[in-house]
Amino acid sequence: MAENPKHIAIIMDGNGRWAQARGQMRMFGHQEGAKAVRRVVEACPELGVKYLTLYAFSSENWSRPEEEVTGLMSLLEAYLKNETAQLHKNKVRLKVIGDRTWLADKLQKLITASEELTANNDGLTLCILLSYGSRDEILSATRKLAEDVASGKIKSSDIDMNMFSNSLWTAGIPDPDLVIRTSGEKRLSNFLLWQVAYAEFLFMDVMWPDFDKNYLAQAIEEFKNRDRRYGKIK
Ligand code: IPE
Ligand code: IPE
Ligand code: MG
Repeated sequence: MAENPKHIAIIMDGNGRWAQARGQMRMFGHQEGAKAVRRVVEACPELGVKYLTLYAFSSENWSRPEEEVTGLMSLLEAYLKNETAQLHKNKVRLKVIGDRTWLADKLQKLITASEELTANNDGLTLCILLSYGSRDEILSATRKLAEDVASGKIKSSDIDMNMFSNSLWTAGIPDPDLVIRTSGEKRLSNFLLWQVAYAEFLFMDVMWPDFDKNYLAQAIEEFKNRDRRYGKIK
């Protein structure tokens, strides 16, 4: 039996379908999804989770209709404005990971302020993947290492798994133990491709706005029944 997962990563999917099934606009689903985020962040310490990664907005999501993109950006801004103080009080360390150059200046400043305020907290580490694409991340690490080789800072033979991991945007964050995707879709959608090499996967039918502590606890129970062999024989 596996131990409790220390790092859970969630592909929060199904907001739009959840709203449409109720005859509502997609944005309503995203708003309710933000409430699920709050529930899950609060449940983590009680369930022994040290790292929580949430996929909030992918590099591909920039291709959605402008109205939805603007709505999602406002929601993220509101989340940071309204939640940072509470996160700080709960000793949460916030990290936002992704290509920030695409974000409005105002949002970039809010992110930096929230990260700086919570940087020394020793409770849950909450990583929000925003404007994030795993292939972009891997390419950016590759370019950085190639430049270091070209400038003579390192030799190509110095590049090992550890150095590569530490060149990714997630440097310093341990790999996820458990990946959950809600809404019944069974794909990764450009999510942490390097980091999930040995993660356990759980695809749940629940739509993200309905997710709560009970679903998280259920996912942890399922994880504990998995046999993580890492290629070895027990
Ligand atoms: C997940 O919900 C949130 C984001 C991708 C921003 P979706 O918006 O993808 O909802 P569905 O998949 O269309 O139902
Ligand atoms: C993945 O969900 C991205 C996030 C949850 C933020 P999508 O709904 O964008 O993924 P696809 O398009 O169904 O693969
Ligand atoms: Mg979706």
